Amino acid sequence: MFPLRCSVRGCQGSLERQDRSLRCPAGHTFDLAREGYFNLTQPQDRRSKNPGDSDTAVLARQRWVQRGHMQGLVEAIKAILAETSLAMAAAPTIDLGCGEGSFGKAIFADAPEQFCGFDLSKRAVRLAARHWPEANWVLANADRVLPLADQSVCRVISLFGRRPAGEIVRVLEDGGLCLIAVPGQDDLIELREQVQLSGHRRSRTEAIIGELTDAGLQLVEHRCWTHAERLDKDAIEDALAMTYRAVRNSQNARLAEVDAMMVTLHADLLLLRK
Ligand SMILES: C[S@@+](CC[C@H](N)C(=O)[O-])C[C@H]1O[C@@H](n2cnc3c(N)ncnc32)[C@H](O)[C@@H]1O
Ligand SMILES: [Zn+2]
Repeated sequence: MFPLRCSVRGCQGSLERQDRSLRCPAGHTFDLAREGYFNLTQPQDRRSKNPGDSDTAVLARQRWVQRGHMQGLVEAIKAILAETSLAMAAAPTIDLGCGEGSFGKAIFADAPEQFCGFDLSKRAVRLAARHWPEANWVLANADRVLPLADQSVCRVISLFGRRPAGEIVRVLEDGGLCLIAVPGQDDLIELREQVQLSGHRRSRTEAIIGELTDAGLQLVEHRCWTHAERLDKDAIEDALAMTYRAVRNSQNARLAEVDAMMVTLHADLLLLRK
């Protein structure tokens, strides 16, 4: 059973599995949704101004990942993790902003019961639970208190997802690892130039490293992953839908005549240790 904690304000009791529910010692229960995930959100999470990605963005991301554009990135992530002293199947790993779950399954396929994905989009966790039912999936707001005890996990991953630095440090055991992927400055630069949406190169990576190291993690490794990929029209549309909340019609019109495009994919991979 994955070491989850009750999310009722002020409770924090550890959750035990009883048939199709999770139950804390104070009697709060959370039922397994029909689709195979637990909803640990509280009313304040559901009122969040940022309730996770829209269905449109989640589905575009799923098509994008399923087309195989990220296969090289999966290999790069596995290589970084394989170089650490933690075995891939070692004890609990969480994924903050797991989306539709393809990365989790591709990276941790051998240890589903030790893996738990968190996302605030119901659409995302439903897809993830359908895709990899053996793993644990939780609807939760990763920007609030995580439903996990202090020092209860040995690995945190966040792939283009949430990075609550203080909470990551709290739930990681000493010596635990945190692997973060963030879009690199050249990611989709050709596409961004074409639609003239922040076509300039800008990297947030240094600021992100600063936030995480200020919170108490040490940077072990910083690697760049880049790849040139030819996108057809559908892939271009998905890339825009999963990257920008709304692309204005005028910007879309600039792409109307483009049938295919070579683009750069670029991610910064950060490995940190507590
Ligand atoms: C760019 S997607 C990345 C998804 C996945 N990691 C991947 O790389 O395919 C970001 C994800 O973070 C989720 N998200 C956004 N705000 C969140 C929050 N406060 N708590 C949990 N998840 C959140 C979104 O719903 C979305 O699935
Ligand atoms: Zn409780």
